[in-house]
Amino acid sequence: MKISITETDQSRISDVDFDNLQFGRVFSDHMLEMVYKDGSWQKAEIKPYGPVQFTPSMQALHYGQAIFEGMKAYHVDDETIHLFRPKDHHQRLNNSARRLCMPELDEEVFIKGLEKLIALDHKWVPKERSHALYVRPFMFASEEYLAAKSSKEYRFYVITSPVAAYYSEGFNPVKLTTSEKFVRAVRGGTGEAKAAGNYAASFLPAQKAQSKGFTQVIWLDAIENRYIEEVGTMNIFFKIKDKLVTPELTGSVLPGITRRSVIAIAKEWGMKVEERKVAIDEILESYESGNLEEVFGSGTAAVISPVGLIHHGGETIQLDQQKIGPFAKKMYDTITGIQYGKIDDPFGWTHPISLD
Ligand SMILES: Cc1ncc(COP(=O)(O)O)c(C=O)c1O
Repeated sequence: MKISITETDQSRISDVDFDNLQFGRVFSDHMLEMVYKDGSWQKAEIKPYGPVQFTPSMQALHYGQAIFEGMKAYHVDDETIHLFRPKDHHQRLNNSARRLCMPELDEEVFIKGLEKLIALDHKWVPKERSHALYVRPFMFASEEYLAAKSSKEYRFYVITSPVAAYYSEGFNPVKLTTSEKFVRAVRGGTGEAKAAGNYAASFLPAQKAQSKGFTQVIWLDAIENRYIEEVGTMNIFFKIKDKLVTPELTGSVLPGITRRSVIAIAKEWGMKVEERKVAIDEILESYESGNLEEVFGSGTAAVISPVGLIHHGGETIQLDQQKIGPFAKKMYDTITGIQYGKIDDPFGWTHPISLD
């Protein structure tokens, strides 16, 4: 499929204060748009970023057929930009599409679209280390039809947004609490898809946790309310003595790309990694016996996020990591080193974008 390009005649880049970027507030000059109807993707177009028209009866607004992805592009040097694991994000987007009964996208069009869009807006990729261009592909049902069934028309977009370091003043350990009342996802539901509705459903429990002084909810499984699943927009890891333990992908956990990277690197370092059921009681016990050394989250936004506290029922795990534990720090340095092209990438995760 050919991707047509209409360039803006008025770049907005000179209005942007790159020293004070707020996550998700500033958008680059262009976006990619694709339209699906009559059973296929019709065309791909890169055009100036701006409002799009839709009808109030558009199905996504009523029945929530909407999915997305999130990845980053990194400035390596003036000739090189790296996307991180875009093919894995493409696969996950298609997995989400299948679960939500939406059309899949061709890998070639997805990758070409990203390459052309980012090359065109390459000046928007911040140069400072730990800053990046956040890339947001998303798809929604666009048919004008008030019927609770799968749409016959869809739109796919990619928009991009320059972002600063997640922790601008150094690592800031997050405080987590379990929820007795709410669950994020249940077996057989949409938890392993990056479905917009999963996030809408998590806002109320997150607000309640925040009103009690916590940063986020650490989700337990919806059936026994016992096994840890994930956190807000991160997967979670426990360093218990010389082992790295993380909840297995049961179908209700989002399969994080950063999670996969952490597991691969830890194994490469010769560490024992266990993907299995992790009961909250087990974590409380390993904390009490002094074996729980570090807890951290993994996700595209923060890469690695140290956990300082976990609250469950009447009990509190208070981790002795003022900033970030040594293992989590080494993991952060390794992943970001690969992303910014500062260290070798033996895994083939970086996808260079040609700027000519
Ligand atoms: C619910 C949820 N879990 C985990 C993650 C981490 O996934 P990734 O490492 O691919 O960013 C995300 C972020 O995308 C998320 O939204």
